[in-house]
Amino acid sequence: MKIGEIDLKRSWPALAGIGAIVAVLATAFAWAAGLLGQRVTNTTFLEDIPHDFPAGYRRAHGKGVCYEGVFRASGAAAKYSDARVFAQPETRAIGRFSIGNMSPYAADNSTSTVSMAMMLTADNGQQWRMKMNNEPYFATRDAPGFLAMVKATAPDPATGEPDPQHVEAFLKDYPEARKYLAADAVKPWASSFAGATFHAIHAYFLVAQDGQRQAMRWSLRPHAAFAAWSAEERASASHDALFKDVAQRLAKAPLHWDMVMQLAAPGDPVDDPSQPWPETRPQLVAGTLEVQRVFDQTDGVCRDINFDPTLIPAGMALSNDPVLATRAGIYAHSYNARLHEIGYGKATDAVGKKAAP
Ligand code: HEM
Repeated sequence: MKIGEIDLKRSWPALAGIGAIVAVLATAFAWAAGLLGQRVTNTTFLEDIPHDFPAGYRRAHGKGVCYEGVFRASGAAAKYSDARVFAQPETRAIGRFSIGNMSPYAADNSTSTVSMAMMLTADNGQQWRMKMNNEPYFATRDAPGFLAMVKATAPDPATGEPDPQHVEAFLKDYPEARKYLAADAVKPWASSFAGATFHAIHAYFLVAQDGQRQAMRWSLRPHAAFAAWSAEERASASHDALFKDVAQRLAKAPLHWDMVMQLAAPGDPVDDPSQPWPETRPQLVAGTLEVQRVFDQTDGVCRDINFDPTLIPAGMALSNDPVLATRAGIYAHSYNARLHEIGYGKATDAVGKKAAP
């Protein structure tokens, strides 16, 4: 049979082939979107966000303040990496302090997680973006493990405490989380961003001009002394205590953090964020961050940045850490959602506008 110039009898194998390709692609897209099977996807991580979550805000760490400052390289990392940021004397820094609570309206004493995001833009235009927490390692070796931990440690409505059987079943699958849960139970609560150490957690590679790779992890170590809230101080802390404190300190003088890099030895795990390396590994100080001023996140300077920790300059390389890859997807998802809301005029206080009466 012929339709126009097409002889169906002769063309059917080719058409069947095209059909098969379309079917495979459609299945692949459905799988990637999490529509088939029980696969953990970016959406899985954000599924518990309430539908009335305030428009325009980050889906986690919603409460935050922007900062600007400068990163001064020491030159010590330039031996291992030809990234410009390690050689040029000063690099502009834009960043954000935040707390780990999802809600942008949370009280500062509602979580022990304090965080810093930062973007360094070198004079060759290359950017380095990062998101760091005050925890030195991740709880689990992979991201589904993190979800399993959140579920297993959720308070049982009957007792208000996590169900020990659920916790033990989780620890059977993810034994590495035992040390994280033990440390978390006694972790002091920082009473100021200024004295907190912020950790990148994942391993990255420094890549030298000759191609040599050195695995490292970095942390931002404060010049200010660490200070913790007592239980009473924490209970009575004001709603915005941490954010007021950092603004007051900066009104008097800049704040500083050294970027400390821990260098891996051969055999140290580079793809597992739950396994810290021995403290005896050599360290170098790649430079010092000076935070000069903080300002409201509503004006967009840091609000509209995705501080994606997989965006690194030439002279660095990513590890195969599965949590790092998962984070990149989750962050893009959250970023797209909030920028979409802002772009379509749905956001109010997130962009400094009053809600319509
Ligand atoms: C699988 C585990 C994780 C999930 C599901 C998760 C989820 C999220 C989401 C949805 C956001 C909002 C992103 C945006 O809209 O720009 C966020 C922000 C943030 N996350 Fe994570 N995260 C995870 C792991 C981590 C880890 C390991 C760290 C630290 C090393 C971290 C540090 C941060 C920081 C600092 C922010 C605020 C960034 C900013 O100020 O823009 N997260 N997270």
